[in-house]
Amino acid sequence: MNKKKLFIETYGCQMNFSDSEIVASVLAKDYDMTDQLILADLILINTCSIREHAEERVFKRLAELNSLKKKNKSLQIGLIGCMAERWKEKLFEKTKVDLIVGPDAYRDLPSILKKENTTNINILLSEIETYDDITPVRYDSNGISAFVSIMRGCNNYCSYCVVPYTRGRERSRNLQTIVDEVHQLFNHGYKEVTLLGQNVNSYSFENVNFANLMKSVAETNPSLRVRFATSHPKDLSDELVAVMASYPNICKSIHLPAQSGNDEVLKRMNRKYTRQGYLDRIACIRKFMPECSISTDLIAGFCGETEAEHQDTLSLMQEVGFDYAYMFKYSAREGTAAHTKMQDTVPEDIKSKRLEEIIALQQKLSHKSNKNDIGKTVEVLVEGTSKRSENHLFGRTSQNKVVIFPKIGHVKGEYVNVKIVSCTSATLFGE
Ligand code: 5AD
Ligand code: SF4
Repeated sequence: MNKKKLFIETYGCQMNFSDSEIVASVLAKDYDMTDQLILADLILINTCSIREHAEERVFKRLAELNSLKKKNKSLQIGLIGCMAERWKEKLFEKTKVDLIVGPDAYRDLPSILKKENTTNINILLSEIETYDDITPVRYDSNGISAFVSIMRGCNNYCSYCVVPYTRGRERSRNLQTIVDEVHQLFNHGYKEVTLLGQNVNSYSFENVNFANLMKSVAETNPSLRVRFATSHPKDLSDELVAVMASYPNICKSIHLPAQSGNDEVLKRMNRKYTRQGYLDRIACIRKFMPECSISTDLIAGFCGETEAEHQDTLSLMQEVGFDYAYMFKYSAREGTAAHTKMQDTVPEDIKSKRLEEIIALQQKLSHKSNKNDIGKTVEVLVEGTSKRSENHLFGRTSQNKVVIFPKIGHVKGEYVNVKIVSCTSATLFGE
């Protein structure tokens, strides 16, 4: 029997991309993946709710995709991921999707599609589901680097964030299944894994903590690079920093979302650390790994943010000298503490102005960080041919910086020592 064709479009964080690979696996018995929309019997949109803008994009896209149903009457379109959880049945009224499935209910997809269920929606959240026995189908992979999900959900309840409501309680995946998956990836030629969770530092499985897990994964093979995302500053332990420092194949790069540089704002955000607490973590990283890159997330214009509080974010950026940052305007999310208990006081134009200032400063800091690398020789793991030139390869350094250099004799998956000769704020160029 010919299998049907599945097209998945993914929005949002790395966790969603990792989940899409799990969904492909759950449906593999009945569906092969296609990268062409017009061939699809089933289109699944894996969605993100973190900011209003992310949801608007999906609503627009769904309207576009609906026209495909005119040509293919049996086409089914499903909405999965965080928006399924947040909008629930209302999505059937607002859009023309055929099914709605939340992040903890993907195992139910085959029976929903075969209409074995009485309904075409499953948005139950679970306290135990980690999909630990499912081998993801790496349908969009470069064959070199892979995401490995190690935990799901979040218990932190930062006041602005919808994730604890859309992804449910924190739970950690069985250690052995993680280690087995990493071994399998390595045996299939993968050279880099990124361990994923909303807050990896709270990984805990039968007395194994995140630092122990990192050790086990790093010991798979010295030529396998290991990364992780994301850390919460309140839980980044000295033990983890020590483990990172002692394994050359653990990448020297930490993503540590600061969100704000002001204590009052951090308190309103329920981040559970102070500016000084954050700076202490940075000092610890720098002490044991001076070469480690540090990136962050920042929110402009949170509830009640004053100009002086905003200036504290800029000064924190200067003080740390972030190598890279993801920067956002605050977007109120229904159901979160910030939405119910606080006022979204900062006018849109001020939010935009503050965000622009943050972006402009970060561009300078990123450029400075990259200029610092000129003249150095760095080890690059080659991920593929550069998008701009057939004759160039691109890859990443341990610090997670993108490097472009001439192909001459090198191939994907190889570690190459590259001398950095020039840069922009986003890219290093080498030879
Ligand atoms: N508005 C703006 N940014 C947000 N983030 C999370 N929730 C919101 C929100 N309501 C940002 C945080 C987080 C990143 C994943 O998204 O910076 O670290
Ligand atoms: Fe959201 Fe905070 Fe959890 Fe990150 S740690 S997912 S920002 S609640």
